[in-house]
Parts: sequence; C-alpha cells; structure tokens
Amino acid sequence: LLSQIGPDAHMRMILRKHPSERTADDLEIIYEELLHIKALSHLSTTVKRELAGVLIFESHAKAGTVLFNQGEEGTSWYIILKGSVNVVIYGKGVVCTLHEGDDFGKLALVNDAPRAASIVLREDNCHFLRVDKEDFNRILRDVEANTVRLKEHGQDVLVLEKSLSSCRTSVQGASSSHYKYKVMSGTPEKILEHLLEMMRLDSQFTESDSALDDFVLMHCVFIPNSQLCPALQGTEQEKLDYTLNNKRRVIRLVMQWAAVHGEHLQEDDNLVAFLQEIVMAVSNDAKAIPAIRDQVTELERIIFPLSQHKVLLRHFTIGEEKLQKRQPIKSYDEILFKVYCSDHTYTTIRVPIAATVREVIDAVADKLGSTEDLLLVHLTSAGEKVIFKPNDVSVFSTLSINGRLFVCRSDQLDSLTPLPEQEGPYSGSLASFELMSSKDVAYHMTSYDWELFHCVHELELIYHTFGRQNVKKTTVNLDLFLRRFNEIQLWVISEICMCSQLIDHWCCFHIHSTSVGVLLCLTFSCLSSNKFKKFYSEFENLMDPSRNHRAYRLTVAKLEPPIIPFMPLLIKGQPFI
Ligand code: CMP
Repeated sequence: LLSQIGPDAHMRMILRKHPSERTADDLEIIYEELLHIKALSHLSTTVKRELAGVLIFESHAKAGTVLFNQGEEGTSWYIILKGSVNVVIYGKGVVCTLHEGDDFGKLALVNDAPRAASIVLREDNCHFLRVDKEDFNRILRDVEANTVRLKEHGQDVLVLEKSLSSCRTSVQGASSSHYKYKVMSGTPEKILEHLLEMMRLDSQFTESDSALDDFVLMHCVFIPNSQLCPALQGTEQEKLDYTLNNKRRVIRLVMQWAAVHGEHLQEDDNLVAFLQEIVMAVSNDAKAIPAIRDQVTELERIIFPLSQHKVLLRHFTIGEEKLQKRQPIKSYDEILFKVYCSDHTYTTIRVPIAATVREVIDAVADKLGSTEDLLLVHLTSAGEKVIFKPNDVSVFSTLSINGRLFVCRSDQLDSLTPLPEQEGPYSGSLASFELMSSKDVAYHMTSYDWELFHCVHELELIYHTFGRQNVKKTTVNLDLFLRRFNEIQLWVISEICMCSQLIDHWCCFHIHSTSVGVLLCLTFSCLSSNKFKKFYSEFENLMDPSRNHRAYRLTVAKLEPPIIPFMPLLIKGQPFI
C-alpha cells in the first residue's frame, strides 16, 4: 500500500501543497493513506488527523544524497515512503539500512540532542514524509513510541525508553519537564557513544548531569576500566569539527568520572596511567586548539596527586578506636588482623583490605609455616561456622559483631569453639551512662554514626548490589556502617538483659540508624507507664514494616537533609534504583 502512494501522482501533488493550502478533502485523502503507514500505526486517530495537516512530501533523485549529518541539529522527523537509506556513523561507516515504512530522526528532536548518525540515500529516487520540529514537538513529542531500538548490523545496540524528565532551564533557573528518551539497555560502546552525544558542553561541569553521574558511578558493572579507557582514547573520527567536540565531551566525561570517584580511581594502576596520559594528550591538544585550553587547568586540578597507603591497626570489633576521627578506608589500605587457630592461639597478618580469602590463607600459612590445606572460617559467638570461598574479598568487615576469623584444616572444623571473649560483655554500661545527660549521649552517638556514614562512597552501594567479588572491590566502609546497626542492637539487648531500668533512656533518640536499631529491639510490651506506652506505640507505627516500611519512608521524605539513612532499607531498594 505504501508503494502505491509513490506512483500516485494525485497524492503526491496534495502532499507537496503547503499545509495551509490543503482543503478538507485533501486532508481526508492524506488521513486515509496514513492509516496504512507502519511507523504511524500506534498513533491515535486525532494525532493522525493532525499529522495530515502538517506532513510534507520530500523526494530526492540521487543515491548518495546526504539527508543530514551526524552532529547537526535535528530539524525534522522522516518516514520512508519509497526507497531506502543508510545510517552512517563516524568511525563505523554504515551501521544499518532503513527501508520503506521505517522512520528515523526523532531522537535528536525528542532529546534536543545532535543527530546521532548521518542519513544517506541508498538508491535513486527516494520518497519521504517529513514532519518538522515544531509540528513534531506539538503533535508527537509526548505521544511518540515509548521504546526506540537502534540496530547496528542487525543487532539491537541501544534500547531507549521515553520517560518524563525534569530539566532546569539555565536562564530562569525554573524547572520544566518533558519527555526524553533514556537508556534502558545497550552495548557498552553504544551507551558510551550515546552519552557523549547527549552531553551538553555549554553547561557548567559542576552542574549535576544525572545521566553522566549514573554512567561514571555504574560503568564498572557493564564496561570495566580495561574497556572504557581504550574506548575513550580511541574515538577516532572522520570530520574535524566533530572530532573536536567529541574530544571536549570525552574530557568532560573524564573530569566528571574523576570528580565522582575521587581517590577510588587510584586503586587501579592502569587507570592512573590512563589519567596521566589523558592529561598529557589534552595539554598537547590545547597548544593547537584554543577551545580545549580552559579544560586543561580544570583537568589537572581534578586529577590530584596520589595519596599514601595507610596501615590500619584495626580489628573491626566493638570498642576500638572510637576516639579517632574516621577517614574512609580504601581497598589498598592495609590491615593488621588476628586470625585464630583451633587451639585459640592467634596469628596477626598484614594484608590489603581488598585481599581475597586465598591471599589471607596464604598469609596465615606463611606465618604458621604450614603447608597444609587450610580453610578460613567465620565463627560466631553462638558457634556457627561459615567457610569462606577462596574468591571472597575483604571479609574482615563482614564478620558478625562477636564473630572471629579462624583458620583450620578441614578435619578440625567440627572441633572449633568460640573464644571466651566472644561471649560479649559481662557488666553493663549503666554506671557510666548515668553520669551523662541523655542529650549528650544522643549527640555523640549521632555524630559517630555520621562519621561512619560519611566514609561510605556511593560506589560501595553499587559494589554491594552487584557483588563486590565480581568487581574485586571492598565495601568496607559500608560494612562498618551496617555493622553499627548490629552493634547498637547487640549493645541494647545486652544492656537490657543486664539491666532493665535502661529502657527509660531511649526517649532521647532521633530517627536514624541507631535509634532504628534500638527501637527494633523493643518488641516486648513490658512498658509500665502510659506515657511510655504512647511513646512506644508512636515509634512502633513508624517502624511498621508493612508496605515496605511505608510509614518510615513517608516520614523520612518530609525531613530536610542531612539525614543518616536507615541503610538496610536503602540497600533493599538499590537494585530498583
Ligand atoms: P537522530 O539522532 O535524530 O538522527 C539519526 C537517526 O538515525 C537517529 O535519530 C535514529 O532515528 C536513526 N538510527 C537508526 N539506527 C541508528 C543507530 N544504530 N545509531 C544511531 N542512530 C540510528
């Protein structure tokens, strides 16, 4: 049916008329024809009728004619009525061919981005229907297809989905929202290419750009450093002005990457070499290309000098080191850690925080002068044993509060018993507690939590969600923050068991992870006074786990930051986020 439009001279004549000159009959004829076009089949009658008034017929005689170039501003959306076109990308050549009934060119319109590809006629005498940007935005922007699949050589390389996005218009600072295509899935290379294309160079680098932030935080999950660095270096392009803009985009991405990751970038020697090379290359370019010059200083400032590795004298057990101000712990920091044997003697090993279990076992065997096959075991105070897998990383911070690391032969496993010290404290802290005001206690506990929380980098949440074994990274700061919650629970339970008057002290706590830890313990109803009963039931409502802790979420949503979040809940939602 489509091809009938081509030969139909009457139809073409109507479509060639300026939209303002089309009669009601003309519009009816066009509308009838639109019913047969695949690219429009998902649109409503009203939208098709509107389109009949704005569609323009466009034809080109010669194969090889360029309809538009990659990188140009988008001005129209096209439907192919007759013939075919090649989709051409710099550095890649023809990535796919589009035929009769296919459409192209809406990405640039919807996303206000430059053209993602050039469109070149593949044969003589091609016919198109064209909708210009203004009409497209008015009629189609919000109703156009929700999913766009871009293909290269027959494979889907990028799937975009339209969703509402709010953007800040820089002039008035006001927020407006409209639909944009966002990346749902794709090949790592295409996602990177798309991100670079979408990047606006006119906005300030400090202004948050959520797609860019998402990419620099998440790339470890789908495009590891070993793949990303060459991709950023090797974006050789055919056209000079395109290359220049692309370079500036790459520099911008690298700057954002460095800013978000901070010192984490230094954990990978190859990455450090890459950054140094980039700075060198950019400085060289800047000599010839003034447009890059201001980016050089910025780049040098952000890619800061290497910091020293630390050695932590830390066992991650209760009561240690609370007087020092906490610094984030890095994967390459070293730790001195006690590992126990079945006879309760111990060896102290010194390994990097991100050491694998195999490395820990080797370090212990080395100290013990043992050549036997050893297992690394997490032994809890209750005597439960968990054998670590050789590839587990950074296990030190994952032990339970009174848990210890043991090493033994497999035939000794059954005879492992907890150390006496794993039993927990024998005397309560009430005596010293009574010397302090509840306000002071709440203040110090909060500031301690804040320090722990502050040490957690967003990346650790990503490593946690996607499995730190897979990325060989530590989540030690996150682990310690999560452990704090367990510490509080254990502490409260121990204190309560040792002294029930303590319950009177809880009223001073605010909503954050400590008090959640406290409150979750208070699931018994031996509270005597009415005042406490009321107070308790208020918190009980707040902590009601039904509908995924809805009450708590709603309360937190109303609070002004800074907030120390209740991390387990956040982590639960992380995969969805
Ligand atoms: P737009 O960026 O507006 O202009 C080029 C168009 O080519 C693009 O929208 C898509 O509609 C179309 N296209 C088809 N395949 C691809 C591809 N693999 N990569 C980029 N664009 C593609």
